[in-house]
Amino acid sequence: MSTQDQFPQPYSALVIGAGAGIGAATASLLAGRGVAVTVADRDADAAETVAREIREAGGTAHGVAADVTDEASVRAAVDAAVARDGALHAVVNSAGIQGPLGTPSHEVEVADFERTLAVNLTAGLVIARAVVPHFLERGYGRIAHVASIAGKEGNPNMIGYSASKAGLIGMVKAQGKEYASHGITVNAVAPAVIRTPFLDTQPQDVLDYMFAKIPMGRAGTVDEVAEMLAFMVSPACSFTTGFTFDLSGGRATY
Ligand SMILES: NC(=O)c1ccc[n+]([C@@H]2O[C@H](COP(=O)([O-])OP(=O)(O)OC[C@H]3O[C@@H](n4cnc5c(N)ncnc54)[C@H](O)[C@@H]3O)[C@@H](O)[C@H]2O)c1
Repeated sequence: MSTQDQFPQPYSALVIGAGAGIGAATASLLAGRGVAVTVADRDADAAETVAREIREAGGTAHGVAADVTDEASVRAAVDAAVARDGALHAVVNSAGIQGPLGTPSHEVEVADFERTLAVNLTAGLVIARAVVPHFLERGYGRIAHVASIAGKEGNPNMIGYSASKAGLIGMVKAQGKEYASHGITVNAVAPAVIRTPFLDTQPQDVLDYMFAKIPMGRAGTVDEVAEMLAFMVSPACSFTTGFTFDLSGGRATY
């Protein structure tokens, strides 16, 4: 099977949070496999830059501005993808923020906590509201969210991040069951630390601490996450829904 065979033609995907990191890598990988990609990000310039790079590499991509905390903008991105590509088959949600870092719970401002929930958790509802009606019409759809090992294990002093990702894992379980008999799957992936530019800013002792928890002794790569997300939004991921896939170098074997 060539990688192109992973997706029937035509196949259209919306990747949100695709202006950088995991989302950008996923948009590029999908486009390289023949998927028409709508590259969405709250940073419109970043989205357009990624879309242009994909087009220059021979793929089909369009950049749009969409903020997962702004329902109208997410609906507009979905409608644009449907109008341009004739249909939408899949959504990858890689938009996320870390929220308050290094702060014990009793010092976290409620507003900062709620902002983290809005981007990392409520977005799962906003996206479902925008995209599921299209999927129900066709009797087919794939939704894949990027959660985090923080949602499984709880990272201390990252209460907003940990709680929002745990909530997302719960939301995926519920939505997976809701749409299981409609050809629609809803899954997530829970990566441990992934090598992005952010990691290059961390002191070596912090990296050593992080990697010591990972049996493979290293960070994952954005390409490894993209590969799993591509499977999750492909037709081949047909008997798994409501599930959070592990991507942690052996750290979380549950
Ligand atoms: N990098 C890691 O180690 C790691 C590990 C586990 C989980 N994750 C998760 O993976 C996802 C992507 O992380 P990344 O490392 O690629 O981050 P990143 O910061 O490189 O990319 C995130 C992208 O999301 C966009 N974004 C942020 N808020 C948005 C919003 N409200 N609406 C639309 N777009 C928005 C940003 O502009 C950015 O382009 C996040 O959900 C993150 O929590 C990352």
